[in-house]
Amino acid sequence: MHLEILKPWNENKMNPILFAFTDNQTMVKKISSALNLELGSMTIHTFPDRETYIKINSEIKNKEVILLCSLNEPNTKILPLLLFSENAHDLGAKNIGLIAPYLAYMRQDTRFQPGEAISSKYFASLLSSYFDWLITIDPHLHRYKSLTDIYTIPTTSLHAMDLISKWLSENIDNPLLIGPDSESEQWLKIIADKIQAPYLILKKIRINDEKVEIQLTDVTSFKQRIPILIDDIISSGETMIETIKLLKQAQLAPPICIAIHAIFSNNSYQNILAAGVKKIITCNTVSHPSNQIDISELLVSAIQTQAHKLP
Ligand code: R5P
Repeated sequence: MHLEILKPWNENKMNPILFAFTDNQTMVKKISSALNLELGSMTIHTFPDRETYIKINSEIKNKEVILLCSLNEPNTKILPLLLFSENAHDLGAKNIGLIAPYLAYMRQDTRFQPGEAISSKYFASLLSSYFDWLITIDPHLHRYKSLTDIYTIPTTSLHAMDLISKWLSENIDNPLLIGPDSESEQWLKIIADKIQAPYLILKKIRINDEKVEIQLTDVTSFKQRIPILIDDIISSGETMIETIKLLKQAQLAPPICIAIHAIFSNNSYQNILAAGVKKIITCNTVSHPSNQIDISELLVSAIQTQAHKLP
């Protein structure tokens, strides 16, 4: 990837300072050097009783603070995130923006059973009260049309579709794109159009957290193509595994699985590989050995745009 080294975006304004709660130091360095951003220093420590200690070491008074933190494993990250935000406010930060390449708690977007928490809404309300803006990549929007349905702060949703399309055109001849459920059509349509490939959207019924049923349509005319399964998230891996089984039964070639967010709970990565997949490719919104599509450039331009909007 080419990231141009840019001058500070506005000579009259102080550049923001970038902090990161992330294991993806390569991404942090790319962003900070592309935008000439100061990298903030902080200390995080877990006490023996599992409480969190946070210290911001850099001077942040009157500065725009940006925090990069992907929200996989959200329950362990949310409290440190909120403590960081409170502390930054107390120390005089002008604004605090959150970049969460993966935004958690988007899938419980309705009350499926009486009494259930609509956690997407409550999580959005929590983040909206601690941060001044949010940038994310392909949030799981199903029943919500956009993040503004639940977030009250300015939000920017970026899309990995162009980068996935580019990867496909550079690496795969003759693909058949397959979306495992109706939600995936929003991504498949765009990619199929960009790379001029056929696509199929399957029907999925979710039985529970770790069990899904998928119906495959007639694929006999696609036997010469390489099946590419595309989804936004791989979590338990069951959506991919069930689809791989059906493709095998239909005697298609071993598929390539592509996902934006590499959540991979428990042994799902190994289980998908064992199901007979050719390759698993993900974007680096969540750090994982399967990351092959770098989304840093999307964040760089979005931060730049965001910085211009700041007072
Ligand atoms: C759900 O609608 C998403 O688009 C994914 O299909 C889902 O999150 C995958 O979950 P799992 O890997 O647990 O089947």
